[in-house]
Amino acid sequence: MASRTAPAPASTASRPPVADGEVLLATTGLTKTYAGADGELPVLGGIDLDIKAGEIVALLGKSGSGKSTLLRCLAGLIPPSSGTVTYRGQALRGANPGTAMVFQTFALLPWLTVQQNVELGLEAQGTPLKERADAAVQAIDLIGLDGFESAYPKELSGGMRQRVGFARALVTEPDVLLMDEPFSALDVLTAENLRGELMELWDSGQFPTRAVVLVTHNIEEAVLMADRVIVLGSRPYGAIRETFDIPLPRPRDRQAKDFEQLIDAIYQTMTGRAKDTPRLADRAEPEPARRTLANTALPAASVDGLSGLAEILAQHANRCGIADLADELSLEIDDLMPLVDALDLLGLAVVRGGEMLLTPRGSSFAAADVQLSKTLFAQAALEIPVVKLIVTSLRRAADGTLRAGFFRDLLAHHYTSEQVTRQLETATDWGRYAELYSYDSASEEYRLDEPDETARGITA
Ligand SMILES: Nc1ncnc2c1ncn2[C@@H]1O[C@H](COP(=O)(O)OP(=O)(O)O)[C@@H](O)[C@H]1O
Ligand SMILES: [Mg+2]
Repeated sequence: MASRTAPAPASTASRPPVADGEVLLATTGLTKTYAGADGELPVLGGIDLDIKAGEIVALLGKSGSGKSTLLRCLAGLIPPSSGTVTYRGQALRGANPGTAMVFQTFALLPWLTVQQNVELGLEAQGTPLKERADAAVQAIDLIGLDGFESAYPKELSGGMRQRVGFARALVTEPDVLLMDEPFSALDVLTAENLRGELMELWDSGQFPTRAVVLVTHNIEEAVLMADRVIVLGSRPYGAIRETFDIPLPRPRDRQAKDFEQLIDAIYQTMTGRAKDTPRLADRAEPEPARRTLANTALPAASVDGLSGLAEILAQHANRCGIADLADELSLEIDDLMPLVDALDLLGLAVVRGGEMLLTPRGSSFAAADVQLSKTLFAQAALEIPVVKLIVTSLRRAADGTLRAGFFRDLLAHHYTSEQVTRQLETATDWGRYAELYSYDSASEEYRLDEPDETARGITA
């Protein structure tokens, strides 16, 4: 794209100019709670955010941390539950006139051509027909789609479809371009290529927007593109955990020491666990020394999945880059993260600078036969608060059984009901495999796994 200097798209907006560093878009005390079948689901809490002219800001967080929700609030597509969103100093009421959105799934209309899909961006603004067509041609040109004007989305590759998504957003010359995981649905090489082209346009000053907000779950993508990375936590609901300035020159070098250090520091913040590497900045929340129910959420990782990952690591001489591994397995980092978190939590692997290393315990686990692997797994799992809670409670219960509701209530002090359900699913899977306890889904009861002789004593 942009092998030649494209003319600036026809101005559709008559907005007063703003200097770099001036705030375009801001939230103050923004919260969002969804009403669900089983009560209220708090998703975002107390978000204070400034988006300034001239910057690319990445909102980074795990799946479910409320990134898309925050972006929809910035776009004025949904109202916050409390707090405000202001655009150029004015509180938003309804759709934000200064933003346009690029979606992960492209969201193109299949019965319209590329040209018509791009013009759609302007139709909503009531731009006259001729102007619309001219602006669309220019946006199509800018984004490297010329020649595809009359094609239909189904004739295009994923990368080309997402270019249409970009052109449709850029044609309106929004002050702030909002992108919701725009590269996640693309294969690795296509994503890399498109990212690179967009960054070239941005750096050369041809990008017809003043600021970009990029939502992503990919740490490397955030550090490659953004001037500022804002990490959203998800326990118990989305709040800004930390902000990282990325002062690295562009184009950025993934191999550079400071690039790797930033990735590492952000990884630590995202997982909320201390790693034995030097920290770049003082953490806002120091790592609690002791694991508690409240600070140790079980990731959605099955024993099969985490054992598989441990074995793959063992095949890679006990270490592997996380991003490389995701590529190799054709997995999204997002899908791999819970397994990585689980191995880390169980002390079977450690994560350093975007690399995973099996610990001695992890490599014994990977090499063990079924019986030994169950024993090693049980030892590791008993150090995890939720698993320990279930086992010690069952031991105290008169008949060695307890209803799931009991644990649900205890966890509900710290987690949303969705998070509680997910954690209990993991705890059930782990406890069954470790032969610590069983779970009967019909009666919703956990039962302590008795040592074999008692069982034999009854039946013999
Ligand atoms: N319209 C909705 N109604 C109810 N719950 C929702 C809605 N949209 C999202 N959620 C829930 O809010 C949480 C955050 O979702 P989302 O903003 O999509 O997170 P992310 O984009 O970080 O994955 C999730 O638990 C999700 O299930
Ligand atoms: Mg999302």
